[in-house]
Amino acid sequence: MRSPASGLQTASDPRPAVYLDHAATSWPKPSQVVDAVSRSLTELGGNPGRGAYAMALAASRAIFDARRSLAGLLGVPDSCDLLFQPSCTYACNLMLKGSLRPGDRVVVGSMEHNAVARPLARLAEAGVEVVVVQADPAGLVDPGDVEREVRAAPTKAVICQHASNLTGTIQPLGDLADIAHEYGSLLLVDGAQGAGHLDVDLAALGADAYATSGHKGLLGPQGIGLLYVASGLDLEEQAEGGTGAGASETLTMPTERPDRYEAGTLNTPGIIGLGAAAQLLAAEGGAFRRMEAELVRRLHEGLLEIDGFRVLGPPPGAPRVPVVSAVHDTVDADRIAFELDRRYDIAVRGGLHCAPWAHETVGTLECGAVRFGVGWGVTVEHVETALAAIAEIVT
Ligand SMILES: Cc1ncc(COP(=O)(O)O)c(C=O)c1O
Repeated sequence: MRSPASGLQTASDPRPAVYLDHAATSWPKPSQVVDAVSRSLTELGGNPGRGAYAMALAASRAIFDARRSLAGLLGVPDSCDLLFQPSCTYACNLMLKGSLRPGDRVVVGSMEHNAVARPLARLAEAGVEVVVVQADPAGLVDPGDVEREVRAAPTKAVICQHASNLTGTIQPLGDLADIAHEYGSLLLVDGAQGAGHLDVDLAALGADAYATSGHKGLLGPQGIGLLYVASGLDLEEQAEGGTGAGASETLTMPTERPDRYEAGTLNTPGIIGLGAAAQLLAAEGGAFRRMEAELVRRLHEGLLEIDGFRVLGPPPGAPRVPVVSAVHDTVDADRIAFELDRRYDIAVRGGLHCAPWAHETVGTLECGAVRFGVGWGVTVEHVETALAAIAEIVT
């Protein structure tokens, strides 16, 4: 694993000495990803699916290979069911707007990010009934509460994140899939904080759709996301335009996957970089996750050793994705994030993390929290440096 750049921040080099904002986006990217993006830009510059000359065909081939690598990593039997989207946000929009109609009813957990909450708010205006199930103070959605709501009235979909970007809580998706399917509902998942950090086997999980980011735990570049759509789910496409396959003379989109959902030129560098990341994670994901668990353990324990901190989410030692957020009795979360940056060159994120529902659920909507996200390239020394700096800031 590579370490982030060290040394003091300068005007010309904005890289922090310690980067603990992996829940927002992973950085630095593994060298394999950087090399793959560079190769895509220098050697594979043709437009995939839009030409029969060698460089366009090579770009198509590289995208095909990347899709296959990602499908292998995420347990998707047919790689055509894995769609490239610009981000997890776009993938969530397609998943929700492509499957829900006015008059439908959905049951959703209260820890969702705005990537789900905002499309649902728009759908509610259009006549979708949105029932929110309150998670517990650690951010966990109780399957019993979901079942009670799903049993109460015909429900088109149960919607839940894989893991929280605020508390790191891992949601009981297996149980939710069983409940949803028992009552004839879909299970739609926002996996932005799950893929890469957790073993994801989508065929076994039973989700009908699973959206995720490419640039977080999956270690790919920004500007690329994924949507898995189970073969039985007929989503309505949300964009029309040119596609790599299908007859150009018709004014309707091709019906086959993935082309139906991938209008316009694809983000070839992003996809190829993400494909390289998938290969790396397939080979080294186990060691990566063990390292993350160790870093989380130390971070959690270290924060609790500093007077005045309350750590959100599961108790120490309980499973969580590598996100640890905390609130201090007297020092504001934004102040801590600001001081870490300015005085110590340490990057973390304060505030509401685009997740007001989640903050409301755990009681931090008014004050926000300071969030530490660990991942690829973070070392125990980085965590110790951050803990020492935090202790100085709050005392
Ligand atoms: C839980 C969750 N869902 C969705 C998103 C949106 O991801 P993207 O930035 O790739 O659109 C995020 C990003 O922070 C997230 O944490």
